[in-house]
Amino acid sequence: MGSFPKSMKSGIFFIISSLFLVSATTQEEGFISVVLSRKGLEFTKDLLIEQAVSSIIPLQLPEIEKSIKIPLVGKVDIVLSNILIYNVEIGSSYVETGDSGIALIASGATANLSMDWKYTYSTWLFDISDSGDASIQVEGMEVGVTLALKDQEGTLKLSVLECGCHVKDIAIKLHGGASWLYQGLVDAFKGQIISAVEDNISNKVREGIVKLDSLLQSLPKQIALDDIAALNVTFVGNPVLSNSSVEFQINGLFTALDDNSASSLYNKGSLDPVPCNAPAKMVEISLHENVFSSVSLVFYNANYMQRTINKIPDQSLLNTAQWKHIVPQLYKQYPDKDMELNISVSSPPIIRVANNGVDFTVYSDVTIGVVDDDEVISVACISLEIHASCSPKISMNKLAGIVKLNDITASLKWSEIGNLHMRLVQAILSTILKTVVVPYLNLYLWKGLPLPLPRGFTLKNSEILSTNSRLGIFSDVEFVEG
Ligand SMILES: *[C@@H]1O[C@H](CO)[C@@H](O)[C@H](O)[C@H]1NC(C)=O
Ligand SMILES: *[C@@H]1O[C@H](CO)[C@@H](O)[C@H](O)[C@H]1NC(C)=O
Ligand SMILES: *[C@@H]1O[C@H](CO)[C@@H](O)[C@H](O)[C@H]1NC(C)=O
Ligand SMILES: *[C@@H]1O[C@H](CO)[C@@H](O)[C@H](O)[C@H]1NC(C)=O
Ligand SMILES: *[C@@H]1O[C@H](CO)[C@@H](O)[C@H](O)[C@H]1NC(C)=O
Repeated sequence: MGSFPKSMKSGIFFIISSLFLVSATTQEEGFISVVLSRKGLEFTKDLLIEQAVSSIIPLQLPEIEKSIKIPLVGKVDIVLSNILIYNVEIGSSYVETGDSGIALIASGATANLSMDWKYTYSTWLFDISDSGDASIQVEGMEVGVTLALKDQEGTLKLSVLECGCHVKDIAIKLHGGASWLYQGLVDAFKGQIISAVEDNISNKVREGIVKLDSLLQSLPKQIALDDIAALNVTFVGNPVLSNSSVEFQINGLFTALDDNSASSLYNKGSLDPVPCNAPAKMVEISLHENVFSSVSLVFYNANYMQRTINKIPDQSLLNTAQWKHIVPQLYKQYPDKDMELNISVSSPPIIRVANNGVDFTVYSDVTIGVVDDDEVISVACISLEIHASCSPKISMNKLAGIVKLNDITASLKWSEIGNLHMRLVQAILSTILKTVVVPYLNLYLWKGLPLPLPRGFTLKNSEILSTNSRLGIFSDVEFVEG
């Protein structure tokens, strides 16, 4: 049950064609999708096979014991022990994907075995026995496994649909022993050794898949950004397998760490198809603009978008003397006093991914205060509409970015110090934003957002392509952890 038919070629054909029987069901969508391209599938296959081979060897096969009749010698008891597969080499390998599963096939593989032999027989006069060792060369071995990959309550479930190993032939090389023994071994044991190799290797492959599955089960459902927000990396729906790619959908929204309620951002709308000039890389990680909105919403809700500014590089900007010409009355009422600005974002920032990067619109109120005998007196309030853009970068496996202030529009909300010269206020606030707020923000943004990458994998040669409402990271990956 569940093994490849003896005729491996037609067996593999059957398995591969059976991958296309199940029709695709309607797919739930997440805000982050990860697509493994053909190049990524090849990489994954090579990695899996490398890991499989190193987990298979050395493989000890059970002892084989048999009584056989040898012409001229008579009945001989032969024991083969310490049968050890100590080397496996893969000739070629390939991966096929279809709607219902993934097939991994290694063919033209060879293996080296060593073993000890021992025989005893009785003549009318004596008991005769001898022992020695032998080496076995396994040729034309094919190993195939088909796997189903399904979503199971937000984690991936990997299971074996079929698994098989087929050995074409073996060559036995005896060290020592009588010449009749060689023929006896070949005639009586060849089949048994072949099926032991086949059975034990396919069992080992199954074991490996079970391990891989438990590794998938243990993937976290959240990746913390800091102590405030975490990325929900719960899988949404079954992976979509086509003949050239595997696509995973991940919830992809940030939520507050201490709050288990899902984000209120669920409206995604249809996405433009991936542009045809997309770089040919192993994976594409595609982030919907709501991923960014969700993280800013968490920080907004946690009151992190309020700042008091009272120390800046050019401290004279925060003295009423500097504001003499902007608001004459301010200086008259509070000559040479220190000032502070309270910047408070008044609604969750609007974040859009456009063709040239990520755009922000932030509405905020700036309350101007004068420090008078350790008391802060609020004297005016200005509404600011801030437009900024961010060019995303990959830094240490994270999505980082650099924000640039594009323009701001200031309007007076209220004032207790008469009229303000708004063009000048705008210029001063713009300078303060550029020299204080933006560098602070960039320091933070440079730490980056986590990306859904399993442990041990790093991105390399990444390119970022932003299109309408979606940011695509096209990248190769490297496995660094053995
Ligand atoms: C395996 O056997 C082949 C054929 O006898 C031989 O050429 C090769 O060196 C062996 N490999 C190892 C690692 O012993
Ligand atoms: C190894 O092969 C032998 C002979 O076919 C079989 O009896 C045994 O169960 C196999 N062991 C494993 C762990 O696959
Ligand atoms: C993959 O599928 C597409 C359409 O479903 C088909 O046109 C293409 O020939 C297939 N490619 C391979 C390599 O089977
Ligand atoms: C994470 O995403 C899953 C799938 O969309 C959802 O069911 C779950 O409620 C989310 N968890 C949180 C804490 O937002
Ligand atoms: C700014 O906010 C702080 C803390 O909320 C408050 O103590 C201070 O009075 C405010 N200053 C102005 C000018 O509103």
